[in-house]
Amino acid sequence: MSRKILLEKINVEGIQGYDAYRANGGYASVEKALKMKPDDIVEEVKKSGLRGRGGAGFPTGMKWSFIDKKTPNPHYLVCNADESEPGTFKDRYLMQHMPHALVEGMIVSSIALEAHVSYIYIRGELLYVYHILEKAIAEAYANGWLGQNIKGSGFNLDIYVQPGGGAYICGEETGLIESLEGKRGNPRMKPPFPAIQGLWMCPTMVNNVETIAAVPHILNMGGEEYAKLGVGKSTGTKLISACGHINKPGVYEIELGLPVEEFIYSDAYCGGIKGGKKLKAVVAGGSSVPILPAELILKTAKGEPRLMSYESLAEGGFVTGTAMGSGGFIVMDETTSVVKNLWNFTRFYHHESCGQCSPCREGTGWMEKVLHRIIEGKGKMSDIDLLWDIQTKIDGRTICPLGDAASWPVASAIRHFRKEFEELIQSREKVGEVSYLKEAVPA
Ligand SMILES: Cc1cc2nc3c(=O)[nH]c(=O)nc-3n(C[C@H](O)[C@H](O)[C@H](O)COP(=O)(O)O)c2cc1C
Repeated sequence: MSRKILLEKINVEGIQGYDAYRANGGYASVEKALKMKPDDIVEEVKKSGLRGRGGAGFPTGMKWSFIDKKTPNPHYLVCNADESEPGTFKDRYLMQHMPHALVEGMIVSSIALEAHVSYIYIRGELLYVYHILEKAIAEAYANGWLGQNIKGSGFNLDIYVQPGGGAYICGEETGLIESLEGKRGNPRMKPPFPAIQGLWMCPTMVNNVETIAAVPHILNMGGEEYAKLGVGKSTGTKLISACGHINKPGVYEIELGLPVEEFIYSDAYCGGIKGGKKLKAVVAGGSSVPILPAELILKTAKGEPRLMSYESLAEGGFVTGTAMGSGGFIVMDETTSVVKNLWNFTRFYHHESCGQCSPCREGTGWMEKVLHRIIEGKGKMSDIDLLWDIQTKIDGRTICPLGDAASWPVASAIRHFRKEFEELIQSREKVGEVSYLKEAVPA
């Protein structure tokens, strides 16, 4: 069983509250950070090899060093707790059960970034978690970890929690910043990147909940020690939210490098496929990453065991590989219709497109319509090529990666499950009830 860091204390009685959290070593990293030079904290994070846990996997220490500290303008840290990616529910789990782990991470990260006002932008639907965070922040103020002259160090910090605007696009970092400024969450053109001009056009670091929560552990154990965990450039541990046709859905902390097969079949994790059925496919990193059939998720095209690491999941590129993404691991058994599932994902992207870029605004809608007619039993063979064509015209042609995220599931489903599309079209069979309009009408 691999090492746990973030969730090591999750089952400690009362860990949601300040007293138990502090009694179990909580806030020790703040004491340490207050005595360090901010840039030395950034160095430790660089040494740790920590990569952003929000989806792209960009090295956190390097990203932190892009913050323009020479400007007279304030710097901001913004925690991205929007977590709206289908299949992803790890950040919610951490914030709900160990809110102080995030607050501690926010304080240490703010010290490193020399930010004196920081924000947690939390998905608006998670109102109960918002209240949990508010309580934890109040406890941190009451115990002198927030506010003016923290523990006599001269460092000041205020943290605010902002409920999100109720849209997936508000999780994209510049859409989030727009929303935090009180506007519609439309992503911005980049450059400038937020590290140069972000919130209120000031240097801003946007990091995922899990990324920020890992920082206190890096400081406590030292960057080099943290880097010993994991495999290659995938250092440390990662939270994975596992769902679908498995015996034990839930949030698991894995040491990066764990074989995918062990993650799916071991009783320590997913516990195998429900009802002893056969594994058909996996979407390994939230709905945006390419779907892989069983044979390619368990082994790479080179025949090597596929590991839960950034590199191994990406082995083969998007032709025979996928991505770690946000760690939302969706498992599908042999009874699943890949085409119907794809329609469901595409319907989501169409609904969530902000509409700024025509390839995404129009293309996601066209893909949804074409998929809808296929699963209604009204598809044509040429629809498969039409779908392929539409997704190529979205991928890489939009301001933000929502367009790419909508096209990759379509491309990978056609690439790996073309036969399923063809059989469905030939049989002219209808795959279940597909009209959400009908579902919405009360009986
Ligand atoms: C449409 C869209 C939605 C996103 N949603 C989230 C989200 O809910 N949480 C998150 O941390 N990152 C999300 N991201 C990625 C962020 O833009 C950003 O890369 C991330 O917050 C950076 O944090 P990290 O460096 O710690 O990974 C999203 C990206 C896109 C394109």
